[in-house]
Amino acid sequence: MLKQKKVIDSQIVMTELVLPHHTNQLGNLLGGQLMHWIDICAALSAAKHSHRVCVTASVDKIDFHHPIKLGDAVTLIACVNRAFNTSMEVGVEVYAQSFKEGTKAHSNTAFLTFVAVDDNGNPVKVAEAIPETEEEKRRYEEALERRENRLKSRTKRD
Ligand SMILES: CC(C)(COP(=O)(O)OP(=O)(O)OC[C@H]1O[C@@H](n2cnc3c(N)ncnc32)[C@H](O)[C@@H]1OP(=O)(O)O)[C@@H](O)C(=O)NCCC(=O)NCCS
Repeated sequence: MLKQKKVIDSQIVMTELVLPHHTNQLGNLLGGQLMHWIDICAALSAAKHSHRVCVTASVDKIDFHHPIKLGDAVTLIACVNRAFNTSMEVGVEVYAQSFKEGTKAHSNTAFLTFVAVDDNGNPVKVAEAIPETEEEKRRYEEALERRENRLKSRTKRD
């Protein structure tokens, strides 16, 4: 197994069409549906980086700034921002596009932490994620600060 992998090699791009069963009574995409797509896209990115089954350890706060409408195409782009020991921070950018109106808007950014596990569900070490572009380097640095805040506010198990 490689000890280091490029951030870009963990990239997953996923596009979904907003259908009636994804929406509320106003014809807007349900928040829970978007969170499901974010979770799947991020899990695929973590698995692509680690070559392991990855479980969601935590999801940072997600703000919904604009409604996404029935018939829009939702594109999610996920990358491992930084790998720690057994955990990885994955960033997901969400874009909503209306082909009818010819519009495209950045809708959300989400940060999730995944842990790579073995067949018994025990955490296993993952390769380092090497940032190359300025943007990747910025996210890499910021991921450490977010991890520290996350672990400080981590709730203990019963
Ligand atoms: C995530 C899980 C594997 C962590 O196991 P654990 O026994 O707590 O393991 P550890 O305390 O050794 O932590 C392992 C890693 O997870 C990270 N982690 C654990 N809880 C975390 C949290 N709430 N937020 C961020 N990272 C977390 C730790 O920082 C550590 O990372 P590191 O190895 O990179 O330093 C375990 O809690 C689990 O299986 N949870 C359920 C996952 C799941 O089912 N997800 C779907 C929910 S519906």
